Amino acid sequence: MTQTATPATDPGRANSTPTYQLFIAGEWVDSTTGETFESRNPANTNDVVGRFQQGGPADVARAIRAAEMAGPMWRRTPAPKRGEILYRFGQLMADNKERLSRAMTREMGKVLAEARGDVQEGIDIAFLMAGEGRRMFGDTVPSELPDKWAMSIRQPIGVAGIITPWNFPIAIPCWKMMPALVTGNTVIFKPSSDTPHCATLLVELMAEAGFPAGTVNLVTGAGSDVGDAIVESPDVPVISVTGNTATGRRIAERAARRLKRVSLELGGKNGIVVLADADLDLATDGIIWSAFGTTGQRCTACSRVIVERPALEPLLERLERRARALRLGDGLEPTTDVGPLINDAGRSKVEEYIGIGRREGELVMGGGRPETPGLQNGFFFEPTIFAGVKPMDRIGQEEIFGPVLSVIPVDDYQGAVTALNQTRYGLSSSIYTSDANAAFRAMRDFETGIVYVNAGTIGAETHLPFGGVKETGNGHREAGHAALDTYTEWKAIYVDFSGRLQRAQIDNQPD
Ligand code: UN1
Repeated sequence: MTQTATPATDPGRANSTPTYQLFIAGEWVDSTTGETFESRNPANTNDVVGRFQQGGPADVARAIRAAEMAGPMWRRTPAPKRGEILYRFGQLMADNKERLSRAMTREMGKVLAEARGDVQEGIDIAFLMAGEGRRMFGDTVPSELPDKWAMSIRQPIGVAGIITPWNFPIAIPCWKMMPALVTGNTVIFKPSSDTPHCATLLVELMAEAGFPAGTVNLVTGAGSDVGDAIVESPDVPVISVTGNTATGRRIAERAARRLKRVSLELGGKNGIVVLADADLDLATDGIIWSAFGTTGQRCTACSRVIVERPALEPLLERLERRARALRLGDGLEPTTDVGPLINDAGRSKVEEYIGIGRREGELVMGGGRPETPGLQNGFFFEPTIFAGVKPMDRIGQEEIFGPVLSVIPVDDYQGAVTALNQTRYGLSSSIYTSDANAAFRAMRDFETGIVYVNAGTIGAETHLPFGGVKETGNGHREAGHAALDTYTEWKAIYVDFSGRLQRAQIDNQPD
């Protein structure tokens, strides 16, 4: 399978927009709906990246059928052999890193250095999970009876529905598809309609790496058509979703009726605590990077700084100075620090919260669309800081998914812990302090799935579990070996070689 997603329109025609296809059963095909949608560059909406198939339920049904057909062959392929294909795929991503990164910046706006990081995260998880092909440890334990062995193995579940967002359009699909595939599941991949091109490029490389026909199927289209069909299908027993909490809750409710396994990676309202003894220059670096990197559009972005009062003024002064120096622009320009927001709806949401923030706190800087010439065709928004925010204010509580930072003053460490934990989310958190004891208390007290000490809230590495507590998720974790739990069923196996009936819990008891 070295076929590529050849655009169906004539690529030689001047200004023609390429049209891409679905990937089902190892073939690039049109949707049965006959409809397409556009993907545009959020830094310049005159730039059309391509046209993509508006997939529908019939396409999902075809894809599920293909994934089911491929299942028995794939689960019987020895896991180390499956892992070899993951290695090849990781290497192909590495060979194509620059091309993928540039395509990502063009399609969703993050600056090129961050796009390269996103692709690197995909490569890292491909290599990590390739190695799982030779690990995937189970337990071998003594039996309580003589001449009997006891062990456990992981087995694939079946067809996995993979529903992914636009903010990490290479890394997150890889976080999900690599563990699903190495453990022997087959996949239906439904990417965000904001990043179908990244998804197409990724699947092209998967085909080239040698994933057999039907093991990976790409269906682009609306969540209400493609996503719903995946969630409702009785033939997709495991689903992994990264998105907002409202969407995740809806999916989990519907999947629960069919007793499906659903791994949810949802919202965040991640806080950085700055104690009075912190290195404020270091804290400023971490806050600026965590709040305004990816234009604040990360689940792990810092949107709250919780600061002990003695450090408030000097920290605010530093933050404002640094944020004012950030240069907005097209992420492909080397001078750009902050790219656009993803789309008009994303920007409208941010603008709504600016209105709320003006009533709740004090606008220190930003809060509007930039007037810089050349940016009017993109969804740009100024880095924004609010001061004097109270922990329970809406801008201190709700996920904004944009470059908006709230600064919350507190009296002491205990006040900081209370403020930090007073949210329905629990993904990432951080503390800046030079007091080792305070740092250890924070590691214990912060109610999040990820805690950083003297570093910002972003930058999780792929070999540790990624995910959050409370309404950030539903108890699953991605990445690390924890990811295997999402995509496998445990099977316990007992082998009795005594040649006689041995009854557990009975024959080994004292008379
Ligand atoms: C996300 O925002 O959904 O730790 C993922 C980080 C990245 C992944 C973020 N490695 O910020």
